[in-house]
Amino acid sequence: MHPRFNEEEFEKLKKITPIYQWGLETLLTKLKIVHEDLKNFQKRDAIDYVASRIKTPESIAQKLHRLGHTITAESAKTHLRDIAGIRILCPFADDIYFLAKLLRSMPEIGIESEKDYVSNPKPSGYRSYHIITEVPVFYSGKVENVAVEIQIRTEAMNFWATLEHKVRYKYDGKIPQHLGDELVEIANQISQLDNRMFAMHEIVKTQT
Ligand code: GTP
Ligand code: MG
Repeated sequence: MHPRFNEEEFEKLKKITPIYQWGLETLLTKLKIVHEDLKNFQKRDAIDYVASRIKTPESIAQKLHRLGHTITAESAKTHLRDIAGIRILCPFADDIYFLAKLLRSMPEIGIESEKDYVSNPKPSGYRSYHIITEVPVFYSGKVENVAVEIQIRTEAMNFWATLEHKVRYKYDGKIPQHLGDELVEIANQISQLDNRMFAMHEIVKTQT
């Protein structure tokens, strides 16, 4: 089953996509400044790198279908908060909370919601900190708040999420029990590794 936008709705979607792009670019510029400041002046290199993407029309259609909504541009705008998405990768787990706090204090950027899957991992084993932000974009003589999803995770959490995503895709979303169990166990081990890496970093930090 491949749900799709019809021709008319696809044209409408093409008209709203730039707005998400503008919201994304606005936030990316702010994050670039944060990254450079942390790295060069604050001596706390809490960001390894920042990646971003705009959800493809196919993926938007699929998600709307999965959620039981009509496949229209208006419906996408109303129901989806992750059309524009940013992923921030951090060296250590405590950097995640440091960055979440920093994002909350950013002027002009609104926070719509937060989900802490670091302290409360999903049953799949998934860990990440999610923030839905509202980024004001000025165009056509008006200001519109654009939703941009930010996922903050460590490199190790990302390693896991990438593999799990591949497995999930391979089995069309229904991961066999034995692989699912193994993924949960790996996720727990990765979390322990993150803690040990952090502990060693703390020791080294106090000695320099
Ligand atoms: P979707 O999961 O996208 O339908 O949105 P949601 O409203 O349920 O939000 P949630 O916070 O659960 O997930 C948002 C995003 O987080 C997803 O699109 C994925 O990128 C990521 N994510 C959530 N759960 C998992 C998971 O179990 N495995 C992996 N690999 N990624 C996940
Ligand atoms: Mg979900």
